[in-house]
Amino acid sequence: MPATSQPASATDAAANSATPTLAPNAARHDAQHSIAFFREASPYIRQHRGKVFVIAFSGEVIQLGNFRRLIQDIAISAALGARLVLVHGSRPQIDERLGSRQHPITFQHDIRVSDQAALRAAQESCGYIRIMLENMLGFALAQPGLSDNGLELSSGNFVTAKPLGVLDGVDYGFTGKIRRIRHAAIRTQLELDRIVLLSPLGYSPTGETYNLRYEQLALETAQALAADKLLFLDHTALHLPAAMTLAEARACSAQHSLLPQIVAALENKVGRVHLLDATIDGTLLMELYTRSGSGSMIAANASETTRPASTDDISGILEIIRPLEQTGTLVRRSRQQLELEIDNFLVTVLDRQVIGCAALYNTDDPTIGELACLAVDPAYRSASRGQQLLQAVIQAARTQHKQRLILLTTQTTDWFREQGFVAGEIEDLPEAKKTLYNFKRNSKVCVLTL
Ligand SMILES: CC(C)(COP(=O)(O)OP(=O)(O)OC[C@H]1O[C@@H](n2cnc3c(N)ncnc32)[C@H](O)[C@@H]1OP(=O)(O)O)[C@@H](O)C(=O)NCCC(=O)NCCS
Repeated sequence: MPATSQPASATDAAANSATPTLAPNAARHDAQHSIAFFREASPYIRQHRGKVFVIAFSGEVIQLGNFRRLIQDIAISAALGARLVLVHGSRPQIDERLGSRQHPITFQHDIRVSDQAALRAAQESCGYIRIMLENMLGFALAQPGLSDNGLELSSGNFVTAKPLGVLDGVDYGFTGKIRRIRHAAIRTQLELDRIVLLSPLGYSPTGETYNLRYEQLALETAQALAADKLLFLDHTALHLPAAMTLAEARACSAQHSLLPQIVAALENKVGRVHLLDATIDGTLLMELYTRSGSGSMIAANASETTRPASTDDISGILEIIRPLEQTGTLVRRSRQQLELEIDNFLVTVLDRQVIGCAALYNTDDPTIGELACLAVDPAYRSASRGQQLLQAVIQAARTQHKQRLILLTTQTTDWFREQGFVAGEIEDLPEAKKTLYNFKRNSKVCVLTL
C-alpha cells in the first residue's frame, strides 16, 4: 500500500474535505467536463502505452512561468505508460552566464562559437538545468498514485560528439556535432521504466566535451531510436496549420525558427514532428490525448486517402459528427444506425485518423441519390477536403447511374451552391423523402444534376 493513500473516489475526497469548494451544479458540470475528456483520452492512453516519445524543449521554455506544470504533464504521460526521452536546450542560460562574466557571446549562422569560457558556461548551465529537472520531475513523480510503478529519471553519457571544426573560415571551437547516439543504452533505460534526460553536451573518445544544439540532438535521437513521436515545445506562439506535409512545411519554413531544421530532419528519414506552443497550459496532454491535438504536425509521408468506410471507422466518424448533431447542423444518428448504414459512408483518413466523412443513400427513385452527413474535422477544414469528399460522393453516384444528387441542409446552402448545387423545392424530393420531410427542421433542399 502506498505511504500516502488517495481517496478512493471523488465522493470520498469531498467527504474528507472540510470546505467543499464547488456548488453541486458547478461540481457536476466540472465532473462532466472531466468525464468527456477522459472518454476522449482513453483510446490514446491505450495507444501510447509503451510507445517511445522524444520531447524536446528550448532553454526559453524552462524559463516560462508554467514550466512546472509542463513537467507535471510529462510525469503524467510517463505514468500513463509512454516511454519518454527528454532533451533540453540551454541557450539563454549560457548567454546569461557569459553576460554576467562580460564575456562576448558569438554566433555564426545561428550556431554558437564555443571558446573555453562558452563551453564552461554550457557545462554549468546543463548541470544546473539537469539538477533542477531531476528535482522537479522527482517531485512530480512522487505525487501519490503517480510513482507506484517505480518511475525514475536517468541521465548519462549517451551521446558521442566530434568538433564541428572550421566552416567558411570560422573555427567553432568546442561546438560539436553528434557522432553517435547510444540508442541501445537509452532503450535499456526506457525498458526499465526510466525517463531518459539528455543535455546538449557530447563527449569524445579523447575526453573532450562538446556543446551541441538541442534541436539536432532531439532529431538525431528520435531517428536513432526510431521513436514513435518527436515533439518540440517552443516558447513562441504558433500560427501554423494543425497538419502539414513536408512540402507545405518547406514552403512556410520562414514562419518559425525551428521549421528549417525540422524540414531537414524529415528529408533525412525522421517520420514526423509535432511542434507545440509551450506557453499554452496543458499543450502536451492536449496533443497526446485529445483528438484535435494542440500544435502542428509535420509528416514526411502523411498518408491521406478518401475511401469507403468500414466498421473500424465508426468511432472516428462519431467523433466528427456528434458535436455537429448537438448544434443541430446534422441529424442525429445512433451508433447502431451508423453500423447498419456504414456501407453508405466514405471517409477521409489521415494517418489512420478519420478527419472527414460523407454518405450517399439510395432513395425510392433509383435515379436520385441523397448526399448526407458531409463533415470535416474542424482542425482540417478550409483545405478543400470538403470539396474532395463531395467529388468522391459524386463519383460514386455516377457509378451507380444516378442522374441527380439531392441533399437537405439547414446551414450549409451557400457552400453547396458554390459547389454547383441549385436551390430546390420539397417537390423535387423523391416521394418517400417528401413524406418524411421534417417541417419543423425546415431544411433547405439542394439539387445537383450529374
Ligand atoms: C461544409 C464543410 C464540410 C466544408 O469542409 P472544408 O474541408 O472546410 O471544405 P473546403 O475546404 O472545400 O471549403 C472551405 C470553404 O467553405 C467555406 N464554408 C464552410 N462552411 C460554410 C457554410 N456553411 N457556408 C458557406 N461557406 C462555408 C469556408 O469558409 C471555406 O472558405 P474559405 O477557405 O474561403 O474561408 C465543413 O465546413 C463542415 O464540416 N461543416 C459542418 C458540417 C456541415 O455543415 N455539413 C453539411 C451538411 S450535410
